[in-house]
Amino acid sequence: MSNIGSYDERIKNFSWAIAEQELDYKPGNVINIGWYCSDRICQMGKADKLGLIWEGQGGVEKKYTYNDIRIATNTIGQFLRDLGIKPEDRVCLFMDKIPELYLGFLGILKTGAIAQPLFSAFGDESLFIRLENAQTRAVITQKKHAPKVRKIIEKMPWLEYLIIVDQDPAKPLQQREVALNLEELPKVEKFEIHPTYAESPSVLHYTSGTTGQPKGVKHVHYSLISQYLTSKWVLDLQDDDIYWCTADPGWVTGTSYGIIGAFSNGVTQCVMDSGFSAENWYRFIEKHRITMWYSAPTAIRSLMKAGDEVIKKFDLSCLRHLASVGEPLNSEAVIWSEKVFGKPFLDTYWQTETGSIMISNYPGMKIKPGSMGKPFPGITATVIDADKFEPFGETGKIGLIAIKPGWPSMMRMYWNNEETYKNKFKNGWYLPGDRSSIDNEGYFWFVGRDDDVINTGGHLVSPFEVESALLEHPAVAESAVVAKPDFVNMEVVKAFVTLKPGFVGSKDLDLDIMNFVRKKLSPLAMPQEIEFIDSLPKTRSGKIMRRILHAKEWGEEIGDTSTLEND
Ligand code: WT7
Repeated sequence: MSNIGSYDERIKNFSWAIAEQELDYKPGNVINIGWYCSDRICQMGKADKLGLIWEGQGGVEKKYTYNDIRIATNTIGQFLRDLGIKPEDRVCLFMDKIPELYLGFLGILKTGAIAQPLFSAFGDESLFIRLENAQTRAVITQKKHAPKVRKIIEKMPWLEYLIIVDQDPAKPLQQREVALNLEELPKVEKFEIHPTYAESPSVLHYTSGTTGQPKGVKHVHYSLISQYLTSKWVLDLQDDDIYWCTADPGWVTGTSYGIIGAFSNGVTQCVMDSGFSAENWYRFIEKHRITMWYSAPTAIRSLMKAGDEVIKKFDLSCLRHLASVGEPLNSEAVIWSEKVFGKPFLDTYWQTETGSIMISNYPGMKIKPGSMGKPFPGITATVIDADKFEPFGETGKIGLIAIKPGWPSMMRMYWNNEETYKNKFKNGWYLPGDRSSIDNEGYFWFVGRDDDVINTGGHLVSPFEVESALLEHPAVAESAVVAKPDFVNMEVVKAFVTLKPGFVGSKDLDLDIMNFVRKKLSPLAMPQEIEFIDSLPKTRSGKIMRRILHAKEWGEEIGDTSTLEND
């Protein structure tokens, strides 16, 4: 029996108080995610249950019971407090998917500070922009990533500590650097968790928009209510589940469901910190007897590409329930997964700002492959007219997805950017910035984004950020960045570039520019293709028309070009 039971019944009787009661939370009381994800599970009699099974490169393994997690997060909390980290200070986690990332996240929350996870493959420029915006007080990292912070540390007087979790004791530390070796620190059995309340800030996740710098999405401890309940009802987490969320906590799926949802439900979760290959993933599922698997369309399409033969080498009968998020999950992938795993991947839709699943397919509900499903109980979502910002009043029309504000894990603000935050609301609706239609049975069908942001393999890349980085290359005069179709990643970054006098386009220059962006920003933001052109299409006012270049890549009609300068 699934946790949600009947979707239609849940819709009728829904109240967020259901989750509050299950978590023994009363409005006005203290609520701390760090406590809920460790101490409380221990108090419920699961202290000796495995909470985290971690596997690194070469198959090394580490295992943590809930009591281990409780003590390790206390220890990190105490360490940070001793350094002088105060509630609401921003503490950045800049690490691969190692245990310290998961434990550090909860340790930070226990002190009342704000966890700011950043993807470890970020280059120094991506990092700087986000640390500057958040005025981050400490960065926790590994020695392999520390050089990227050192490179910019002189520009960051607000950053007091660079905390290294795997520092070689024989090596001297530089100014502002401290070592945090979890295995050597005295274990802290009792820690006074900072009394955070519903509206106390918890997590700051950065997400990219079309224009301007990345935005820091501020979440609060009360988000737990949504994350706990959606994990229970959509991911269907049950006591004996072995759960695997493939997302990196540098992105919101890796925290909402890779940390908070999993641990607050007291399940055993597995983390794999080694590269992707179909063989490696299937081996991991077989070895750990994974029952619930939350992944992303790009990974699923990569597995499809690897073929069905490799699947036969493994016993994957342990899989009970599969779900996906991040980009459109095409119907072929749903049908394929049902064929090869005996279970369809259930598509779930949400975003950094919403903090938890908004629209989804549910265990036991009829699945229409290619559809995102229906709003989570307690979520009022519809599709509205892009001019009047009103619901259509009839089904089948394509419009903007609109959600009634007020669920527990809704972002509370874009960090220091109230204006952009306010712009996300129109006529009493929160607008995620996506387009969809709704069919006559209430199922949502995703159409596309309503902006120029590139969704590559489930990760949002701002064309503006890539264009700015390109302009710093000595050969680049102007650039325009658009999405290009790709079977596996759905979209990849493509750059159109005009060169400065004296430079000629060549294979070498092409590679040089790609590497330049990869190092500054990240491998995701690196253009997979660079096309050198003589001039970029612009409006008469000089704005680059990405739309035209985009249409060309996708073989679409170009549409109205009446404002074009060089037509
Ligand atoms: C954007 C949010 C939240 C998890 C990771 C991404 C797109 C997300 C789906 C889906 C089609 C989807 C939307 C959304 N997206 N899920 N099931 N079908 N598109 O978080 O980085 O904030 O990206 O990803 O465009 O707005 P994010």
